[in-house]
Amino acid sequence: MPTMVHLRPMTVHDVEAVAAVVDAADRAAERRPGDDYRPPSDEQRGVMDRGTRRFIERDPAGAWVADRDGEVVGIAEAIRRGPFWGLSMLFVHPSAQSQGVGRRLLETALAYADGAELRMIMTSSDPRALRRYSLAGLDIHPAVNADGVVHRSAIPAGLPGRAGDEDDLDLVERVDVSLRGSRREDVEFMLATGARLDVIDSPDGSGYVVSRSDRVAMLGATDERTATALLWRALAQAEGKAHISCLTAQQDWAVRVALTARLSVAPTGPLFVSGMERPPGPWIANGWYF
Ligand SMILES: CC(C)(COP(=O)(O)OP(=O)(O)OC[C@H]1O[C@@H](n2cnc3c(N)ncnc32)[C@H](O)[C@@H]1OP(=O)(O)O)[C@@H](O)C(=O)NCCC(=O)NCCS
Repeated sequence: MPTMVHLRPMTVHDVEAVAAVVDAADRAAERRPGDDYRPPSDEQRGVMDRGTRRFIERDPAGAWVADRDGEVVGIAEAIRRGPFWGLSMLFVHPSAQSQGVGRRLLETALAYADGAELRMIMTSSDPRALRRYSLAGLDIHPAVNADGVVHRSAIPAGLPGRAGDEDDLDLVERVDVSLRGSRREDVEFMLATGARLDVIDSPDGSGYVVSRSDRVAMLGATDERTATALLWRALAQAEGKAHISCLTAQQDWAVRVALTARLSVAPTGPLFVSGMERPPGPWIANGWYF
């Protein structure tokens, strides 16, 4: 008898299985030379598990698993923030890939987008993912990642701004309104799980950047000059290596910062967007919360 895969809502009992599917799919993914598989650190695993729990609690209609005889072989997690919908995760275990499971999971996660005006997906470069997201009607925006060790001598002196905290969430909300919409509750969650916040709040421009270990995790600003200063602030604090994900043509200002810092810039999976002609400019997306 052929094995059946059925979809069901994700529950807190699936948290470990979700991490296992993501890890197995990541381990099997085709990579560029030098971009070897690295198992998640304990910190990354902790953030992943807390993030999964939050998807289940905050966005239950967007959190699904594909179940094959009691074994989780695929997962989808999507968020909804008012008129915004974003696909945060879509992973199928290598033993179940290319059998239509990803298509079914995406269809279910897309039901959560009903009535949304804006949709986004930050993807890997897996051609199957690109096919799915393009067929779902989103527009492709090619992207690069930046990685490497920041050249300390390139960091501009006298950068404006200061370290931020929960008291700056009003600023976060104010700045994001003209970008893709408020990320306030997600920034609050990221801070609660150990991320760092830096802000600039001046009459000439305002904005914020969230970073975690060596990653620039999210950025929003009123203008590119403020965004540039914020990115430098984040890079100045990176210990050892720094990583910035998913910079599209709208983030050319960030590519220039990365190159001046002597990070390597290389193609990665694109950003898919619908409901907006192009991604916002003085903005860096977060893979889960955009
Ligand atoms: C991307 C992923 C979620 C897709 O799920 P899946 O169950 O493998 O995909 P499906 O079988 O539903 O669909 C794959 C589609 O790509 C097509 N396809 C297969 N190989 C392909 C290739 N090399 N190039 C282009 N299309 C290809 C299939 O024909 C199918 O399209 P169709 O249904 O219109 O015929 C899954 O492969 C995966 O987990 N990959 C690794 C993790 C990842 O990159 N996730 C995306 C992160 S956002």
